[in-house]
Amino acid sequence: MKIAVPKETAPGERRVALVPETVARLIGSGLEVVVEAGAGEAAWFGDDAYREAGATIASSRDELYSGADVVVRVRKPDEEDVAAMPEGIALIAFLEPLTDKDGIERLAQRGIAGFAMEAIPRITRAQSMDALSSQSTVGGYKAVLLAAERLPKFFPMLMTAAGTVAPAKVLVLGAGVAGLQAIATARRLGAVVSGFDIRPAVREQVESLGATFLDLGIVGEESEGGYARELNEDEQHRQQEELARRIPEFDVVITTALVPGRPAPKLIPATAVRAMRPGSVIVDLAAEAGGNSELTEPGEEVVRDGVLILGLLNLPSTMPSHSSQLYSKNVGALLDHLTKDGELTLDFDDEITAGACVTRREEVHA
Ligand code: NAI
Repeated sequence: MKIAVPKETAPGERRVALVPETVARLIGSGLEVVVEAGAGEAAWFGDDAYREAGATIASSRDELYSGADVVVRVRKPDEEDVAAMPEGIALIAFLEPLTDKDGIERLAQRGIAGFAMEAIPRITRAQSMDALSSQSTVGGYKAVLLAAERLPKFFPMLMTAAGTVAPAKVLVLGAGVAGLQAIATARRLGAVVSGFDIRPAVREQVESLGATFLDLGIVGEESEGGYARELNEDEQHRQQEELARRIPEFDVVITTALVPGRPAPKLIPATAVRAMRPGSVIVDLAAEAGGNSELTEPGEEVVRDGVLILGLLNLPSTMPSHSSQLYSKNVGALLDHLTKDGELTLDFDDEITAGACVTRREEVHA
């Protein structure tokens, strides 16, 4: 079985789907790997490292896909790339099955068996394949570093001959994987941290990291799979009002609140931004889904009423070595799951295979 690793084509994408360490392991278990020239360069994995791991380097897309059985990518392929893939091939990537119906349809039309990394069930047995978690870990960490770098204040409390400096107060909204990592990172830098999530189970996790749970009197529900259910209009309104009242206490707000397949909930109204102290920083990790702050401009950094709002997209790509290393482990684990004796062996009675597979042949399973 031959696995093809293309160079990512999405603008600004620096990650690569397989790093040399995983390539060597897969080759050791009897698979063949071909890597497009320069595929790992932006993540600091050169062609030579892939050659040493036993991969072949392809100098063109045609050469890469010729005879390939599985294509592994980070981001979904563009139209041109889908057209270049051999019909009937398997594809593993973040395929955005809940939000990109057209892209999924394109794969189905070419008979491509699409496995979406974000559709892998969040169950214990599939933890090693959980790329949403691995990439959110990077995002949560990096969001805090960005905030610390841009805040005109220290994070830790300092007692110096020139006086005592109060620690920064950080609020993390949404305490899933990214939020919990943000809380842990902000704590390590010495900030006083509060966290909030509508899933009640999260309170204990926030507190176990040494942060305070911000009680807004709003409790949501967990839907199947452990995800948050979207709040109704009245609850959303109450949450905004409560947050607007509490937010001015904080120097930094990091927002990570998401509901799968839905626009990001608007937690921070413009009035709350206006009430914050000038020089405060908001890092909106939900920018990709429209943002948790009403004033976020996805992909941009803006200053509104003296508050810096960072709506940067794709933070994992800004730390491409480790985010690729983790993603590659996830993809490797999924490949192990989908293969037997070096051949793709798909068991659709299996929860992980059936969950991850979003297209097969002419059908669409989104
Ligand atoms: P996510 O990225 O979908 O959302 C981030 C957070 O935003 C969630 O904690 C969600 O509850 C919260 N949120 C949504 N609406 C909100 C609102 N209006 N106000 C405040 N917070 C709001 O979530 P993520 O990080 O992908 O985790 C989803 C679930 O999966 C969690 O329950 C997590 O514990 C679980 N999980 C399970 C794993 C396993 O067992 N293998 C591995 C990783 C995560």
